Amino acid sequence: MIIPVRLGEASYDIEISRGAIDLAAEKIMKKDRKVCVVTDSGVPTEYAERLLASLGNGAILQVFPQGEANKNFDTLQGVLRTMLEAGFTRSDAVVALGGGVVGDLAGFAAATYMRGIDFYNIPTTLLSQVDSSVGGKTAVDLDGYKNMIGAFWQPRAVFIDPDLLATLPSRQISNGLCEALKMGATSDPELFELFESNDVLAKPDLIEEIIIKAITAKRDVVEIDEREGGLRKVLNFGHTLGHAIESSCGLSLLHGECVALGIPPMCESAELKERLAKTLGNIGLDTDAAKYISDKNTVLEALTHDKKSASGGKISAVLLKDIGSFEFVKLTPEELIERLD
Ligand code: GLY
Repeated sequence: MIIPVRLGEASYDIEISRGAIDLAAEKIMKKDRKVCVVTDSGVPTEYAERLLASLGNGAILQVFPQGEANKNFDTLQGVLRTMLEAGFTRSDAVVALGGGVVGDLAGFAAATYMRGIDFYNIPTTLLSQVDSSVGGKTAVDLDGYKNMIGAFWQPRAVFIDPDLLATLPSRQISNGLCEALKMGATSDPELFELFESNDVLAKPDLIEEIIIKAITAKRDVVEIDEREGGLRKVLNFGHTLGHAIESSCGLSLLHGECVALGIPPMCESAELKERLAKTLGNIGLDTDAAKYISDKNTVLEALTHDKKSASGGKISAVLLKDIGSFEFVKLTPEELIERLD
């Protein structure tokens, strides 16, 4: 299955198929081309070995330690220096093999090396397959602020291989499903219905359909608003409170788990809130934020520091009015915190 992303000269295809990792080399490799495969220590070495073997002699591997804490300038510099020392030129390429951290960092290395070289993404987690691998956001963190330094740099192609999910722990599956459910809630009632009427965790065969639907919905948003001037902000549904909870509770919760806590408070009616909480529960996600927040002031502090979405003391957020219907609202950090009650 190929999903085209139409962005003029920056258009590209997302290929979704079992075994896609083995088809990637044919599309990436050109005569005499060098390729830097960037991955982290959490990605099974077998995947990197497979990819390197198919890419052939021109490929080198750069591995960095797993974790958001390494999405920084030091790691970026390591990748850039490796490419410089290996004599990479403008016609060479970077390939991300991993989750969101790898994709963001490798994409930013591609965006900045010699003012920009080709970038390919092979996401290996469900979270990155349904969300971050698509849309061209690349970045590193700075001084504790996530994604502060980055660029929009669209990949030349994305290869999504659902077979790579076989090694993922179930907690990571729920983590990724949250972003797909979010896409369904705001933009694709059919996708949401799939979550509502199936025990998705017990039907792994549904995962491929979910990936396709979630990416198609995200693609439709990105094609209208590549640079997040307006509509793309809908992808932040549940993320305003979710990010604040994520930074206030350290590393104990995964991204999707925090977004799940941030979704029900951003539903307009009690009935809708209940519906979302139940559906999130079906995919193994807790929505009882009180259990995880020991001090609301730390969440308030994190909201106040959310430089990305704050303007004039108010923070942009997405309010879900119904499945497939939302509006953008501006709320003070205090008003957002009240919604947690
Ligand atoms: N993950 C949100 C976006 O791509 O805009």
